[in-house]
Amino acid sequence: MRQSILAPIQSAGITPNLTDYEEARRSFSWAQAEQHFSWSKTGRVNMAHECIDRHVEDGYGDKRALHYLEGDDERVWTFAELKQETDRWATALRNEGVRRGDIVFIFLPKNADCYIAMLATVKLGAVAGPLFEAFMEEAVRDRIADCDGRFLITDPDLAVRVPRSDLPSLEKVFVTAGAEQCREDEISWNGILAATQVTDSPTEWVELDAPLNIHYTSGSTGKPKGIVHAHRAMIHQYQTGHWVLDIQDEDVYWCTAHPGWVTGTVYALFAPWLNRATIVVSGGRFDADSWYAAIEKAGITVWYSAPTAFRMLKAAGAEVAARYDLSTLRHVLSVGEPLNPEVIYWGLEQLGLRIHDTWWMTETGAQLIVNLPSEPIKPGSMGRPIPGIDICILDDAGIEQASGDIGHLAIRAPWPGLMREVWQNEAKYQSYFQFGGWYLSGDLAYRDADGYVFFQGRSDDMINSAGERIGPFEVESKLLEHGAVAEAGVVGKPDPLRGEIVKAFLVLKPGVNNTPELIDDIRLFVRTHLSAHAAPREIEVIAELPKTKISGKILRRELKTWKTPDEAVSGLPASESPSR
Ligand code: WTA
Repeated sequence: MRQSILAPIQSAGITPNLTDYEEARRSFSWAQAEQHFSWSKTGRVNMAHECIDRHVEDGYGDKRALHYLEGDDERVWTFAELKQETDRWATALRNEGVRRGDIVFIFLPKNADCYIAMLATVKLGAVAGPLFEAFMEEAVRDRIADCDGRFLITDPDLAVRVPRSDLPSLEKVFVTAGAEQCREDEISWNGILAATQVTDSPTEWVELDAPLNIHYTSGSTGKPKGIVHAHRAMIHQYQTGHWVLDIQDEDVYWCTAHPGWVTGTVYALFAPWLNRATIVVSGGRFDADSWYAAIEKAGITVWYSAPTAFRMLKAAGAEVAARYDLSTLRHVLSVGEPLNPEVIYWGLEQLGLRIHDTWWMTETGAQLIVNLPSEPIKPGSMGRPIPGIDICILDDAGIEQASGDIGHLAIRAPWPGLMREVWQNEAKYQSYFQFGGWYLSGDLAYRDADGYVFFQGRSDDMINSAGERIGPFEVESKLLEHGAVAEAGVVGKPDPLRGEIVKAFLVLKPGVNNTPELIDDIRLFVRTHLSAHAAPREIEVIAELPKTKISGKILRRELKTWKTPDEAVSGLPASESPSR
């Protein structure tokens, strides 16, 4: 029988790092977490130092830090080797004119270079700007242009998607290849590295509030905004790595996200390395066989992924899972979109483990609401706030709601991981704090009498497809550039596999015929110029878009419940999708 409360499952011989949640909520303060860092004694702050160099200083130089796998390609770096490599990259960047505070964009696939580039940038006190590998030219341009980016590290395959002529600020494009693979306006990074001698430590000591990285992220309006985090986020990231990822010395840890998404930076890289984990990086696209093979090959013990990926593994069937030895796994976590109870029950059956849902956002810098290994899980709930974090549910007027009532999920600010700023957009930053000291997430939720939080959707039009945040405005803008499109309205449509898919409603220009070829062409146009994940999976042509009477703004809410003739016949309203 399916239980509504799942008790902790203890792995043999392993005690979770946090065993008494209630006691920690009473007694924990962030000042205690600060004691963990070398800067609490030396006063010298740098995230990259705490991730790598300090472990070498503490005698763990020979421990495996990074295990890269893609197909038959496999390579391992120890902490000592990673220190050397990031010193070399940081020195090379410094020689090329990168200084503290400069933004270095990193547009690379999920491989070791990408991780090393991130750490080297941070080591130098510069600001890492990772870009998702599926971005096409427009997505790349919008982000680099927004902050007049001067430096970019990329590879020969992705370099072709960087529209140089539209990016006058971009002074140097480093390509991780030999000179023969670089165009005239690109610099061979292999050549630079070969010529680099490390004669002194490139580590720059910075203030705790110094900028660390910038993640462009979408909302419901306008182009993506640059969320800037500070080095102080390490306090929060270390502590959640310790409590929530539950990293222990023997763990081999794998987070499946690309560093272009915040999870791929914070929990694929910073948090596990702050906790001295051996991390696995597995390249290539999702494929059930290669994912299970990675777990078997690397002996992964702690695994952080997303509901869509778990749903895809479930759909691949138990026969595929049965071909692999998954017995090393001891702790599994999920983030980014609602985790349906069905998926948790699949995890129990297939892996013999609970899947621990976690909630946070790019802006929050680290996990805030979680399911801990030592605590009961209520399937369907994101869990409870970590010690050190207070949350509440507010109504539209900012009044706290009673348990059971749905409202705006809000967090008492500040906390160590909270964003430092929205790049050159103070008004946007302030918009998160309409109700005094509460950070407004934009998510709707309720809390039950035990304090467990249940996600109920977004209060705005942001789309979440397979855990990836997509702004409707960005997609609509691109659609309007297509010669056949007069008007466009883009919404998330509930989908059993991806949570939501991107759906576009279009009004065509007069005289244009609605043909299947045209629809394919429009979809391809967004795919090749913006990105594959933002391209509408469904396109519907309608006569007129619903708009507000006064300002003429598109009423996306109405589009969400729009009945296409087919749906009207099948009688399945969008809101009754099984997953949302
Ligand atoms: C959604 C990802 C339901 C939510 C770390 C949030 C979730 C947005 C969950 C942030 C969860 C994240 N259950 N929804 N466990 N985790 N979300 O910035 O709407 O890419 O506001 O950060 O994802 O997405 P972002």
